[in-house]
Amino acid sequence: TYSIAEPCVDVLDKACIEECPVDCIYEGNRMLYIHPDECVDCGACEPVCPVEAIFYEDDVPEQWSAYVGANVDFFDDLGSPGGAAKLGKTDYDPPFIKALPPMGE
Ligand code: F3S
Ligand code: F3S
Repeated sequence: TYSIAEPCVDVLDKACIEECPVDCIYEGNRMLYIHPDECVDCGACEPVCPVEAIFYEDDVPEQWSAYVGANVDFFDDLGSPGGAAKLGKTDYDPPFIKALPPMGE
């Protein structure tokens, strides 16, 4: 699967959302998260992110490895909604994301 990492925090450009054919990129409060089971690995989102926040699982930089877990933990309570558009924005972020200092511009 693909994961979204730290550069997305407080940026939330959302260009990625428009590219995803299965609508599996979900909006938290401080960043977006890719559903690990709904993502079909098409890779379309990765090149359009202006801050290069999206990585294939094997390519996530070491210092951001915890973000792979964040993309999983975000869905602990949500399960598999089967589409981000109908769910809309949520105010949730996994605890360590929530605790990050302000980022971005
Ligand atoms: Fe975030 Fe990049 Fe998408 S900043 S919202 S991962 S386009
Ligand atoms: Fe969608 Fe990106 Fe996966 S476009 S299917 S989240 S690789």
